[in-house]
Formats: sequence, structure tokens, C-alpha cells
Amino acid sequence: MTDRYCVFGHPVGHSKSPAIHSAFAEQTDEALEYTAIEPPLEGFSATWRAFVDAGGRGANVTAPFKEEAYRLCDALTPRAKRAGAVNTLIRQADGLTRGDTTDGAGLVGDLRRRGVRLAGARILVLGAGGAVRGVLEPLLAEAPACLHVANRTAAKAEALAADFADLGEVTGGGFEALEGPYDLVINGTSASLGGELPPLPEGLFVAGASAYDMMYGAEPTVFLRWADERGAATIDGLGMLVGQAAESFMLWRGVRPDVAPVLETLRRGLQAMPET
Ligand code: ATR
Repeated sequence: MTDRYCVFGHPVGHSKSPAIHSAFAEQTDEALEYTAIEPPLEGFSATWRAFVDAGGRGANVTAPFKEEAYRLCDALTPRAKRAGAVNTLIRQADGLTRGDTTDGAGLVGDLRRRGVRLAGARILVLGAGGAVRGVLEPLLAEAPACLHVANRTAAKAEALAADFADLGEVTGGGFEALEGPYDLVINGTSASLGGELPPLPEGLFVAGASAYDMMYGAEPTVFLRWADERGAATIDGLGMLVGQAAESFMLWRGVRPDVAPVLETLRRGLQAMPET
């Protein structure tokens, strides 16, 4: 029987994960089937169990189930524990479920591929929600000079920074107290989804700085346009998406797929099909 994997989300219809993992499987000669499943909002755990009973070996988890997936796991990796959410479920040989989160590794891998220096860098992260919590540990592991989290609700950024303070030089605050310059600014707010820009001051970027948006689309996000106008090199989150998928694939199959050709295909697809 072919090994089965899937992505769980609600909605899940537009997920690129089946295309990404099918391309990885072809590239690495791994025999597997990867589909998209939309559990009912109140039925995530039952849907995972039914998937496992039908031979499922692992899954990706996306909104809004990442926290529920975290709660159902029998075992968690340290980085998943820190994140409080999982995006990768692994059915172990003993039948137990292990959870991991590969979003941060996907982000760091994408930044490395783009030649963005993290060691010794001054990093600003915008947002203090689940998406940001999931990437702080891998970012801090790169030993930046400092990492500041700025958020609309300052108290959330301060609490988040306190949770990670044992891992490095991390601080938190509101947008009004924000002062640059930074080598790298990462937008992890969901503001881009609504075409909005957090209230950012001038002087945020050093010369040669990079700006990264964890979101992506056919067109640059408002944040990336704003950063481009101020001279920063801009990168959207498509590489992070493919990168986190590659990390999950590695956890399941023990083989590391090549991100570059899959990213290139997705990019062409995005540009050919502007969002309506
Ligand atoms: P996610 O899983 O995408 O992180 P989340 O946990 O709901 O979603 O967090 C959304 C983040 O985007 C938060 O940091 C939120 O700021 P608040 O904590 O103040 O709510 C931020 N956000 C959403 N819309 C925003 C906007 N228009 N401007 C600035 N920040 C915004």
C-alpha cells in the first residue's frame, strides 16, 4: 500500500502543499500519496485518527488546527513545545503521534538561500501571534546581535519576548516605540492579508538591509512595496512555504528534497495566475 500523507486545513482547497509534496516525491523517487483534507472545525482529532487508521503516516497542519494538533500529540519536539503549535504530525512505528513545527526552519533556510546574514544581525520581527511564536527559536539559534518583536498590542510582544529570553537577546514592544535601523525586518503580522501596513517609522533599514514578508501573493505585499521604496532588498514568503514543506518531507522520509526547482515552478504559477 502506498504511504499516505495529507495537509489538514479549513479551508484547504487552495493549499499548495499537495503540489509541493508530489513534486518532492517525484524528485526523490519516494512512493507516496499526498492529499488535502478539510476536517470539520470541531472534528480535527477524530479526522486525524481516522486518517491514521486508514494507513496515514503523517500530515501537515495549517490554520486553524495548529494548536489543536499540538494538544493531541503524544510527543513533541522542543521547538514545537516552544511554539505551542505544530505544523507536522508524524505517526511513529509504535502508533504514537509526534508533533513538530518546521515553519521556522523553513524561514531560516529561505533566508540562507537568499544570502541574508543572520549571525550578528539586528533583526526586527513585526507581529506577536502564532506565526511569529513559531519562528523565534530557529531565528535566535542563528545568534543575531539582537531580535526585537514589535506588535500592535505591545503587551503581547513583551510577553513573547519574555518567553524566549533564555535563548538570546530578545526584546518586545509596541510600534510607537520602534526605532531603527535594522539589518533585517520580518513581517509576521497578518496585516498583509487585508492589504494593510503596520504603522512603521522611517529609518528602519540600514543600507543593504533585507525585508521579508511571511505572506506571499502574485503581487508584492504592501509591506514589501513600502520596504522596496526605502531601499531594502525584498523577499516574500513563498520560499518559506516550500522550505517548511521540505523540512516536513525530511522528517517523514529521511530524504532532503531540493527546494529550488519546486519554488521556481510555484513562482511561475503564481505569476501566470494573478489573484482575483
Ligand atoms: P497568525 O497565526 O497569523 O500569527 P494571530 O495569532 O491571530 O495570527 O496573530 C496575528 C498578528 O498580526 C498579531 O500580531 C496581530 O496584532 P495584535 O496582536 O495587536 O492583534 C497582527 N495584526 C493583524 N492585523 C494587523 C494590522 N492591521 N496591523 C498591525 N498588526 C496586525
